[in-house]
Amino acid sequence: MRQKEYGMTIWFTGLSGAGKTTICQFVEKELRIQGYRVEVLDGDAVRQNLCKGLGFSKEDREENIRRIGFVASLLARNNVIVLVSAISPYRKIREEVRQSIPSFIEVYVNASLEVCEQRDVKGLYKKARSGQIKHFTGIDDPYEIPFSPEVECKTNQESIAESATKVLEKLEELGYTT
Ligand code: PPS
Ligand code: MG
Repeated sequence: MRQKEYGMTIWFTGLSGAGKTTICQFVEKELRIQGYRVEVLDGDAVRQNLCKGLGFSKEDREENIRRIGFVASLLARNNVIVLVSAISPYRKIREEVRQSIPSFIEVYVNASLEVCEQRDVKGLYKKARSGQIKHFTGIDDPYEIPFSPEVECKTNQESIAESATKVLEKLEELGYTT
């Protein structure tokens, strides 16, 4: 078993369809192969349990992020590498979470709205455009881009593997992994 303390949180933020979940899964797999204990907290998934009942108003999104941040901090202090993927559109609450978790890096999963909308993997943009879904991030709800993320993944220019490698290299560079 690894003796060194390595608990920390990697926070993936970005528009719906930017590639947060996919990059997260790739990084998760790789870290597990390397022998680290890893947990994933995905916005879409935790909204089925931990954050059930929360909607997409500013207040509910903030509450969602706070709850995810709280669980991440518990796991991280128990030597788990926590991968969070959540749109987390508000800068202020992202900063709040950063301050509350000792070892934290932010990954901006950056794909333009046009690209995400063209992908429209879940058909949500179409619904947002037609008014079936209100307050959809990027359409009629804000997304505040990070000013100084530790990593930026430009998913319309790089492959998933390339994006994930950037994250893994940053972990090494910052001394979280060896
Ligand atoms: S947030 O803003 O951080 O609280 O959002 P998050 O918990 O990550 O949930 C985002 C997923 O919910 C689906 N969805 C919406 N996204 C944005 N805006 C609205 N109105 C909305 N309604 C449903 C969508 O599948 C998001 O998943 P991802 O993986 O980001 O595409
Ligand atoms: Mg997702």
